[in-house]
Amino acid sequence: MILSNSLSKILIIDFGSQFTQLIARRVRELGVFSVIISHKKVNIRTFTKQNVSGIILSGGPLNVYQKDKFSFDKRILKLRIPILGICFGHQILSKELGGRVKKSKHREFGLAQVTKVSNSELTRNFFDKKNKNEVWMSHSDQVSRMPKNFRIIASSQNSKLTIIENLKDKFYGVQFHPEVTHTNNGKILLRNFLFLICKVKKNWSSKDQKINLIKEIQDQVGNNKVICGLSGGVDSSVVAQLLSKAIKKNLICIFVNNGLLRKNEELQVVNTFKKKLKINLIYVNAEKEFIKKLNNIFDPEKKRKIIGNLFIKIFERYAKKIKDVKFLAQGTLYPDLIESKSVTGSQTSKIKSHHNVGGLPKKMKLKLVEPLKFLFKDEVRKLGLELNLSKDIISRHPFPGPGLAIRMPGVITNEKIRILKEADYYFINELRKSNLYDKIWQAYAALLPVKTVGVMGDNRTYEYICLLRAITSQDGMTADFYNFDKKFMQTISNKIINNIRGINRVVYDITSKPPSTIELE
Ligand code: XMP
Repeated sequence: MILSNSLSKILIIDFGSQFTQLIARRVRELGVFSVIISHKKVNIRTFTKQNVSGIILSGGPLNVYQKDKFSFDKRILKLRIPILGICFGHQILSKELGGRVKKSKHREFGLAQVTKVSNSELTRNFFDKKNKNEVWMSHSDQVSRMPKNFRIIASSQNSKLTIIENLKDKFYGVQFHPEVTHTNNGKILLRNFLFLICKVKKNWSSKDQKINLIKEIQDQVGNNKVICGLSGGVDSSVVAQLLSKAIKKNLICIFVNNGLLRKNEELQVVNTFKKKLKINLIYVNAEKEFIKKLNNIFDPEKKRKIIGNLFIKIFERYAKKIKDVKFLAQGTLYPDLIESKSVTGSQTSKIKSHHNVGGLPKKMKLKLVEPLKFLFKDEVRKLGLELNLSKDIISRHPFPGPGLAIRMPGVITNEKIRILKEADYYFINELRKSNLYDKIWQAYAALLPVKTVGVMGDNRTYEYICLLRAITSQDGMTADFYNFDKKFMQTISNKIINNIRGINRVVYDITSKPPSTIELE
């Protein structure tokens, strides 16, 4: 598995906290590789092989006495690996080591003050001059009896055992969340755990990742050919560049123009990857095929399925033409991997069938190469820069696989595609001109399937409505609309209406996600 075995790491055992990914990010920001594993998947025998330098037990929604709801392999306590328990992790660690946990008289949610009781390496430089600190709590249970061989490092008003340690075994428990930014000096506490207690060495910079990933790709694929679906987005671009550095001519990228791309996108991708970066690229113009299949389809899910299936078909067609292909590369990211496995076993309802070129050609019996599957999006961006990809590619807003098809509710026509491409082009250009592009996580124009009446040059018009959407977000899971000033809105509205035939009204989407989603379909 790429990157998972070769590096020393901090293992984060996930008990379902909403902050588990944040713990992993903080550890990585401190320069150390971290991996999240579900409490159900802890396999003690692989620990030494996997080079685990420290373990963090995450928070979670459960109560430590709901034994049937989670698993905790006690043998991790005997491995002589330092452990830090956070919130639920603190409680389960305490309980398993002979302490007791009970419902708190007062639940603590939000900011709380902790006061130092004893010195500890874990809290070096953590407290202020008055030996206090503000931390962020989110719990209704608390440790009420200290486990054996522990001592108190800090207490809060509601809970005496807020930070505890067992110096000999290097076990630590904190009732609050050091991983959230609201906890003052939370990062210092995590840094102390990593470098003073686990004594790990930094191994997680973009340069380290590049070197390790190139070597691991070479080990995985040897002299075999690899195909890669290139969309021109950040993830597939980084995968292609990484593979091209690792295996050179054995990489064959396939770029499918489905006719639903942004204006001039196909030219840009071919120009960058084929001409500038000299990557082996097959350009497939399948515009007509896609548009024909989408004729008269207005159901969003049908559109997505048709596009996804046709991508597979075309991909297979071309993959078969290239002989001796053994691998398929794709840009799966770490959140995709984590989010597809629910920790509590609950099934989240399906909102949309996200289309991803990868994962598809099972029939082709290709093995997957997923070099980014342990990286977060911001790490992928940094890696891209390390690989000399231009800032233009790296900082591009996300663009969905089904493209403009899901930005024009209703049926898809060539006329609508033409109008929408132009509107999007003007919008994005104006954002760039106004230095707003990089402040916005994603922005696009959409075409609503309604015509309204307008008046231009004393004449009546009856044309489409263009909807603009611009959002801020961390990861696309939640989002808020961007607050443009009136001047920008006036400028973009005028430009679109004056330059694009077919639109006589511009509206701005002011919904967040949830309740809306980012795309319209
Ligand atoms: P939603 O609309 O679900 O979008 O709030 C969240 C993020 O995912 C992108 N998106 C997709 N990306 N294939 C993709 O590769 C898809 O089918 C797809 N649908 C939505 C969307 O652009 C946003 O960034």
